[in-house]
Parts: sequence; structure tokens; C-alpha cells
Amino acid sequence: MKDRLITIVTTGLMVLGLAFLGFLGWQWWQSRLPASYDVMDYGVVDRGGGPEAEHVHFSVADEKGPPTGKPDVSVTLTAEKSRVRLASGAQVDGWTFNGKAPGPEIRLVRGQLLQVTLANKDISDGVTIHWHGVDVPNAEDGVAGVTQDAVPPGGRYVYRFRPEQSGTFWYHTHQNASAGVEKGLYGGLVILRDPRSLGYELTLPIHTFEGHAAIGTNDDVGRKVVPAGVPVRLRLINTDSSPVRLRLAGMKPVLVAIDGADIRPASVPVGEALEIGAGGRYDIAFQMPHGPAGVAVVSSKAELVLSPTGTGELPASASHPVFDPAARDEAAPVRLGSKFDRTFQLRITQKVGFLDGKPGRHWALNGKLYPRVPMFEVARGDLVRINLVNDSSGVHPMHLHGHHFLVLSRDGKAVAPWSTDTLEMLPHERYTVAFRASNPGLWMLHCHNLKHAADGLSMHLMYAGATTPFRAGESAHNDPE
Ligand code: C2O
Ligand code: CU
Repeated sequence: MKDRLITIVTTGLMVLGLAFLGFLGWQWWQSRLPASYDVMDYGVVDRGGGPEAEHVHFSVADEKGPPTGKPDVSVTLTAEKSRVRLASGAQVDGWTFNGKAPGPEIRLVRGQLLQVTLANKDISDGVTIHWHGVDVPNAEDGVAGVTQDAVPPGGRYVYRFRPEQSGTFWYHTHQNASAGVEKGLYGGLVILRDPRSLGYELTLPIHTFEGHAAIGTNDDVGRKVVPAGVPVRLRLINTDSSPVRLRLAGMKPVLVAIDGADIRPASVPVGEALEIGAGGRYDIAFQMPHGPAGVAVVSSKAELVLSPTGTGELPASASHPVFDPAARDEAAPVRLGSKFDRTFQLRITQKVGFLDGKPGRHWALNGKLYPRVPMFEVARGDLVRINLVNDSSGVHPMHLHGHHFLVLSRDGKAVAPWSTDTLEMLPHERYTVAFRASNPGLWMLHCHNLKHAADGLSMHLMYAGATTPFRAGESAHNDPE
């Protein structure tokens, strides 16, 4: 009797154990990405409560910039492995454009035609160029496996577009971006409103090269001679995957633009630090004082000192609170309407499961692991709202390609709206953002902590009817993140 009971119980446990193993095995099997796939094959289509729009099929590859016409600005960027020498003398093995990291700064005037020829010399993973923050036509967006194939060693690709925005942007590879950007495949992109000079201007991509924080390539004290009284504009770009904190000293700084879009100028209270989320840009303006003034990367040696004599030190300042863009008291007038055609929910959590066969705790979007994440479907012309919730203890700078978010509220409280393409969400923050769907295509929406993106914090915004001829996956040699 007792023996029979033991046999029944052990058999039962074994069956349960096997069933559980079978379930895990099935989950594992199911999570594996095929060798090549269409990014639209797996996502869970979400229409945000709006009607199903008519699917008039169009290919993202046809959404090109002007195919003909002489470019006003023409640049060739060659991706190649190269030693990057920092100001302190430190050297790192980098992946560069034209032998430099950051790559050459591209400058043009709004409305001009830009042509960039990308050549890949020896980056075996392949390269693309994404124009971060510029709402280009979809085929020029530079996302491997979505809007083009990654350019292999020896290959070339030509981008052409006429930007309608002006401001501070940047470019970077969007093939294996988590490795490529960190190693140096990025540069500044400045689009001027008009060709007249605004005074003294510097574009300052801030990047960490193998542990060395640097402003440009300055991981030490850099100096510039700037006469007193001159209007100065610093274009600060965070090209890292985590937030960067900056100390501004010796001047009365005014924040004039966020993510390339002008805001009503907001004074940064003296001593307040600036924190720029990954991928984000802040433009700071001030009048050059008689003494030294400049910017330092907090908890690093990197600083840039401007002074009329080319000498002097930045005045010391204790650590201070961080400037909060949501706390600006005056807002520029908002031009979006208020009747939303679609409202999406996007909740970021962590979940135990398999991501492409790898077990672990992974980022999840609306409870799902990549690629079975939501796919937001919109129709051209829609006014779209997204309620973003960061239900995790990580910082997530959420970046939408091809469009700009207008930030409407944080944690349920209305804010003075600002336009952003990379919205930094602190742990457990909630935001409501809106945008007009006016740029047809298939667009990435992902975390700009590129390691998070590579670990599944990535999805797509698609216009009804969009199709792509490109495939993601290992055998397609396309891996955007
Ligand atoms: Cu700056 Cu999808 O990237
Ligand atoms: Cu993230």
C-alpha cells in the first residue's frame, strides 16, 4: 500500500517535471529568431483604439529623398577601424568615420540638399547611417534590416535628403548599433536656420571611450580663446548609452533648444547641473564673460574652458540639483490639436523568459519579449498619443524615428510642452506624449540605451500598408541594434 503510494507520487512528480521541462523547451524553441525574418512578421498589431486603416501597400524602399538634383553639401564617410587618440594621449581601438571619432561634423542650412556617400572599408559587421533626430524620408533612415541592408566591407550606399528642421542632431551607425556607436561610428550634424553666423559656436559630442569620458576627443582640460562679449552657443550631444551630467561654470547659461528644437529660452539657475539623456541634445547660449567659462563632465577629468586669454580655470561649484526641462514655467505655444485619433499604451517591465533562446530577465514591452512586442499601426495624418510607463528600475531614453514627440504630461501632471526625439524616462516615471503621423514608413521606437535595445527594448511604428523588402537576422547580416 505504502509502496504503491510512493510509486504514484513519484510518477506524478516525474510527469509534472517532464511537462515543465517540455514547456520550457517549447518556450525556448519558440523564442529563437529565425536566420532571417521580416520585422513585421511577429509584432502584435495594436491600432491604439482607432479604426483599421485602409492598407494601400507601399514599400519603405520607395520613400526616398530627392533622387535628382545637385547636392548643396556632399560628404563621403568611410567607415574604418582606426586608433583614436584622445587629448590626454590615451589611445583606444575605434571604429571610425574617415579615421576619426567623432566623425566629421556635417553642417548645412535647412532646405539644402545633403548627399552622403557611406563607404565601408573594413567593418566586418557592416555599417549604416541613421540621422538621429532628423525626420528624413523613411528610405534614408539608415536602419539595417528595415530601411536598407547593412553596407558590407567594400560596399557603398548613398543617402540624400533635404531637412526641413534646423538645430543640433547627430548621425550614427544603426547596424549592430550597441557596439558600433560605442566604438566611435558617430558624428555631429548641425542644420542652421540661416547661413548667417550666430556668433561663436561649438558642437560638443560627449562620449565615453573605453572608460575615458571625453568632450569631442578631449578627455582632459581643453581650451579655446573666445573674446569677451561674443554670443556663444554650445551644442551638447550625449552619444553614450547612459545619462551624462554636466557642470556649467563661469557664465549665465540659457537653455535655448532641446533635441534640435528651439524652446522659449530658459535660464539654467546658476550652479544647476544639466543632465542629458542618452541620444539627447541641449543647446546652451550665453554671452562670453571676461573670465573663464565652460563645461565639465561631472565625475571625470573632461572639461572645456573658454576664456579671452586662453588661460584660467573654471570657477568651482558645489554639486547642485539637476535642471528639469519639465519645470520650465513658460511654454511655447503648442500647435498640435487635442482630438487624438489613436492612443497607445506602452509599458516597460522586466520579465523572466527566453530572448532569442537566451534565458534570463529581459526587457518586456506591454508584457511581451522581442519580437512579439506591440507594433503600433497608424494612418497618415493621425494625431497620435502614447502613454509611456516605465515600470522598471532602469533609465530608458525612448527614441522614435522619423517624428518628434511633444511631451504633454509627466506622472499625470501637465508640463510646459517640449518637443523631443529621445525622451529620458527615469525609473517608475510615466509620460504622455503626442505626435502627428506625417511621415509614412516603418519606424523604430526603441530605448537609446543601446544595450537595452539590443536586449529587446525595441519595437516599430508602422503606417498602414507599409512593407519592407529588407530582412533582419543573422543570415541577412542585418541586426539594427
Ligand atoms: Cu539614435 Cu534608432 O537611434
Ligand atoms: Cu532602456
